Amino acid sequence: MTEKVAKLTLGDQTYEFPVLEGSVGPEVIDIRSLYSKTGLFTYDPGFTSTAACDSSITYIDGDKGELLYRGYPIDQLAEKSSYLEVCYLLLYGELPTKSQLAEFDDLVTRHTMVHEQMHYFYRGFRRDAHPMAVMTGVVGAMAAFYHDSTDINDPQQREIASIRMIAKIPTLAAMAYKYSIGQPFVYPRNDLDYASNFLHMCFSVPAEEYKVNPEIARAMDLIFTLHADHEQNASTSTVRLSGSSDANPFACIAAGVACLWGPAHGGANEAALNMLREIGTVERIPEFIARAKDKNDPFRLMGFGHRVYKNYDPRAKVMQETARKVLDILGVENNPTLQVAKELERIALEDEYFVERKLYPNVDFYSGIILNAVGFPTSMFTVLFAVARTVGWIAQWKEMIADPQKKIGRPRQLYNGSPARDYTPISAR
Ligand code: SDX
Repeated sequence: MTEKVAKLTLGDQTYEFPVLEGSVGPEVIDIRSLYSKTGLFTYDPGFTSTAACDSSITYIDGDKGELLYRGYPIDQLAEKSSYLEVCYLLLYGELPTKSQLAEFDDLVTRHTMVHEQMHYFYRGFRRDAHPMAVMTGVVGAMAAFYHDSTDINDPQQREIASIRMIAKIPTLAAMAYKYSIGQPFVYPRNDLDYASNFLHMCFSVPAEEYKVNPEIARAMDLIFTLHADHEQNASTSTVRLSGSSDANPFACIAAGVACLWGPAHGGANEAALNMLREIGTVERIPEFIARAKDKNDPFRLMGFGHRVYKNYDPRAKVMQETARKVLDILGVENNPTLQVAKELERIALEDEYFVERKLYPNVDFYSGIILNAVGFPTSMFTVLFAVARTVGWIAQWKEMIADPQKKIGRPRQLYNGSPARDYTPISAR
């Protein structure tokens, strides 16, 4: 079959570049030889038209509102799978057999405790520090406690570090929460599943027995699944770029945590609930819709819009349904925030400004309502996103490290600064 090529004409020269085809989705123009052939760079701030890597982990069709983890649609996984099974799928590429899942579950369960010395590490933070500030610190500090799994050239150490990160991130997150509310840390328990263990570490106290509500645990497990991976988003790209320098996995995941914290990215779930609370009543929605459309007002509808989805985020659909179920389970009738969210969505989806820009609710629009109802403060919302996304970051990092084409990431620029000039002595300035 003749190779497909893209032609670029510059002046009287025409250059050809191979067009590469994936299994699904847009083809790519391989421009790796562009600079050596033409002396020109491409220009794509924000990477709106750039494929930064090959990957076989997650596929998104933004126009269809489709999300596949290793080919499986997110709505099927949300309904039929579990977070740990999804972790196995993302890490190893196939759904596990019964015995493989049991073995993986046991392996993760046995790595949930953290080095006791890490308890003292938390004590260096102010109690009122934002939990994401704590997480950025303690995840990076994992390299100081688990340096026997930081050699990225040793596949065995890469595997151990991956399991340690996935297993310990809920423990670190629960410790950040406990520390922020002045309660003692709660050790993980091996008789509880991943989501139940997390709820137990967050909400149990030594003074009394804590019983996990299985329906709430199921909702948490589902929220983890919905957030597990999402192609080359900002924090995943941060993890890949950090990993391209052969930095250790804990440092790379800490970089991902830091990037996720931004309100334009994972921090939007905290910002979205704060926005819904600020709106307060259905009557005030038009005022905020007007602000979101006003170019002179930096306000944006948090939890709305997406770089890739130009249709309804498939995760938001599942999240809205889960919000209704959780509020029913908890007997939180007509939760005003959920009413405001649903009416805000209805109005926005009929408004020309949002329609022509294809702005729909994203994964962060409803998640805060659930997390708030379960008992988490808004400051913990992005921490929970980081817990769930750790498996995606790890899977993408492992894929990048194992890629024979791996190179250190080093973008270039369009330089607008001063051309070369001679130093002027201060007496002459
Ligand atoms: C996540 O990438 C991922 O996959 C991320 C994520 C994942 O799972 O990893 O899905 C998780 O980060 C979801 C997104 C969470 N962020 C928010 O909800 C914050 C609010 N959303 C916006 O900041 C914005 O929509 C972004 C950042 C999400 C996307 O921005 P883009 O694609 O760069 O879009 P843009 O800024 O170029 O906006 C296009 C137009 C602009 O108007 P015009 O200049 O064309 O007139 O749409 C407007 C924007 O002003 N716009 C909004 C808006 N989002 C975009 N206007 C009002 N409210 C909004 N939320």
